[in-house]
Amino acid sequence: MRKPVSLIAGAAILGLALAGCSGGGDTPSDSGGANEVEVFTWWSSGSEKVGLDALVKVFNEQYPDIEFINASVAGGAGSNAKAALASRLEAGDPPDTFQAHAGAELTDYIEAGQLQDLSSFFDDEGFTEVFPESLIQLLTVDDAIYSVPSNIHRANVVWVNTGILENAGIDPKKAPADIDAWISDLEKVKASGVEAPLALGTEWTQMQLFETVLLADLGADGYTGLWTGDTSWDSDGVTTAIDHYSTLLDFVNSDYTGLDWDAATQILIDGQAAYNVMGDWAEAAFAQAGLTYDNEYTTWPVPGTEGIFDFLADSFTLPVGAPHEEPAKDWLRTVGSADGQQAFNLAKGSIPARTDIDAADYPPYQQTAIKAYADDVIVSSLAHGAAASIAWSGDISSAVGRFGSDKDVAALQSALVDAAQKALG
Ligand code: GAL
Repeated sequence: MRKPVSLIAGAAILGLALAGCSGGGDTPSDSGGANEVEVFTWWSSGSEKVGLDALVKVFNEQYPDIEFINASVAGGAGSNAKAALASRLEAGDPPDTFQAHAGAELTDYIEAGQLQDLSSFFDDEGFTEVFPESLIQLLTVDDAIYSVPSNIHRANVVWVNTGILENAGIDPKKAPADIDAWISDLEKVKASGVEAPLALGTEWTQMQLFETVLLADLGADGYTGLWTGDTSWDSDGVTTAIDHYSTLLDFVNSDYTGLDWDAATQILIDGQAAYNVMGDWAEAAFAQAGLTYDNEYTTWPVPGTEGIFDFLADSFTLPVGAPHEEPAKDWLRTVGSADGQQAFNLAKGSIPARTDIDAADYPPYQQTAIKAYADDVIVSSLAHGAAASIAWSGDISSAVGRFGSDKDVAALQSALVDAAQKALG
């Protein structure tokens, strides 16, 4: 049974209520002494919760006297959590630490004065040496570092049900060269009797699919230029991407607007779709379903994005006014530790942000990601906070969501132009 988003939103409200009372009178003014840490994420269920639990297990081993308080708010990609967090920060009621994406999203919090400078903490812990310089730059504003990365995820991944492709006479190991070639294969799969070969979900998953099509059609430099103003949103390349995206929507499940990512990926796991474009947190869902990589399922970069790694990283912050600052720093120590990163990333489908790792310790999918992160051109994910501010990506997300019902290419492109104008001035 597919889990509709409305149920997830209900869980989010419950999560909010729980978050509100989780500290038991845990307000900045009255609870500074308690040995607890309230950790705010959106990893509240399924494979994402399994990842968080793995990290908490290491934390409990490293800091057995500190109580972990789970303030997660359900909804993939922080679709409910970010608004809930904004309300808490606005009200002067920050959690002790919260999940934030490296890049533009983190910069929003830094510029709003909501985060503490962790530069000397990084030096004391030796973190400056173990994280890649390019990643540290995404955590830095004006030479100060503001969060500890837990992982690196890849967004431009197609998850492939091998059996369905074989049944349609397509070699599942061979990625189509570009979006047009992929559309031909989608037609073949449909002709083989699979009604909706491309599994899709709610608005942010649509934006993620769209960003990968932009990447395929514009290339790494063209795509990166969208965020700096060097590539015009008015360009023919963007029109081509919207046209391609529109065609891809002809192949998706009709209930897509109501499904979070896990429900959409589940369609593929259940053998009712051939493809799903999803970040590699999906790997954890396949692993937990007991499927074997390169057997029942495989992956390739979204056609046309071979050699490009669409990057995002989760990281943990120390908010200004965190009620339990020392336990929060201990949480950050676990997040950055070799043991914490290994336990978490093995369970989460991501790769460690630390560079002092042995790829051989990771399962086959993650080995492909470790290699690609080392070899490929890295670009920043839109749907996961690396490329654009929260406000800008919110505007793009709404425009892409509207396109699902009106399919108006010119209206989407003009909304994208307006959003860029608003964001870049
Ligand atoms: C991303 C996040 C991932 C994963 C995903 C789906 O934004 O960085 O860790 O949780 O959302 O919820």
